[in-house]
Amino acid sequence: MALLVDIHTHVYLPRYVSLLRARHTVPRIFTSVTRDGKQDDRLLILDHEPSGGRPVGAQYWDRDEKINFMNRHGINVSVVSSANPWLDFLSAPEAKTLASELNEDLEQYCSEGPSLSPTLQRLYGFGLLPLVPGISTSALVDSIEQISKLLHLRGIILGSRGVGKGLDDEALDPVWAALEKTGLVAFIHPHYGVDEKAWGEKSNGHVLPLALGFPFETTIATTRLILAGVLDRFPSLRLLLAHSGGALPQLSSRLASCIEHDPVVASRLQHDARWYLGKLYFDAVAYGPEELGFVSDVISRSARFESKDSVGVVDRGIGSKRMLFGTDHPFFPPLQPTDKWKSVVENLQAIDSVSGWGTEDKQGVRGDNAISLFQLGQK
Ligand code: URA
Ligand code: ZN
Repeated sequence: MALLVDIHTHVYLPRYVSLLRARHTVPRIFTSVTRDGKQDDRLLILDHEPSGGRPVGAQYWDRDEKINFMNRHGINVSVVSSANPWLDFLSAPEAKTLASELNEDLEQYCSEGPSLSPTLQRLYGFGLLPLVPGISTSALVDSIEQISKLLHLRGIILGSRGVGKGLDDEALDPVWAALEKTGLVAFIHPHYGVDEKAWGEKSNGHVLPLALGFPFETTIATTRLILAGVLDRFPSLRLLLAHSGGALPQLSSRLASCIEHDPVVASRLQHDARWYLGKLYFDAVAYGPEELGFVSDVISRSARFESKDSVGVVDRGIGSKRMLFGTDHPFFPPLQPTDKWKSVVENLQAIDSVSGWGTEDKQGVRGDNAISLFQLGQK
């Protein structure tokens, strides 16, 4: 059966929502009462969140709402992740305890949800690590152990900060090693964006932070990880990049050229920068067929850099195997009540209209790639 699998879909688990409700500083959820006496819950997660935050409701935490959304869009299976800012704002002891509790909560959220067959659930998840400054290596490795034993958790989600010094910090080597050993997928997702005052002063609501800041953050975090030789030291690491890898595909040849002109950095790497893109996975949350086709070309091209003198052929199909459908639910809801969300329909139409992708490529991106990457249907 051809399944539609959503690998970029979020939840704020009830335990986390309670924490956000109890807080008085960002990140927090606060409630005001509207003129007609209704309760209005608002989510404040970004440092300079515009216009009093975003409306937030049951679709952010209620499993039935997630299943409802999936049903309405023909999504068979979702691999659900906690939404930003995860545990970033907590102390090390707090983060350690909450990571463990939220991983158990997410396992329960998935395992007690509906199933499609005796071996295939509708919900799987990405766990959380207590990635905060001051955390011990053993706490991080223990957390990976815990997640690897929870049957429905098939990866972890992480931001760009690492334990405070980014994803190029050697302190994370034991984390990469443990992820490699357990086969868990690491989903790199942004939260901080870029300075909202960068190169201008006018406010543009959420547009600049979400459209540009988020993907640029992923671009920089992933580039740093590559430049630190993480993929040379941990070649079997399975990294999934949010928002189709941001600007990394577009800038990868420029990156390669800059590295070549910097012998110190070049000496750290075993491959041309473009080769590493072929080792990554990319969500297909790009909203346009041209962008998806381009990303798949860039991934395919990495084969050319397999060795210094090989000349590979660029076949869009190779790249499509590393791309996976996502929705970013519950973010980007429609502004007016409607049956289907435009943000979802656009991403599905984009997959369907990539020129050069055959039926198999499209079904790969819609679901088959996720089934094999996350070993869905296997215990
Ligand atoms: N806004 C967020 O804060 N997170 C997302 O994942 C998407 C939009
Ligand atoms: Zn997201």
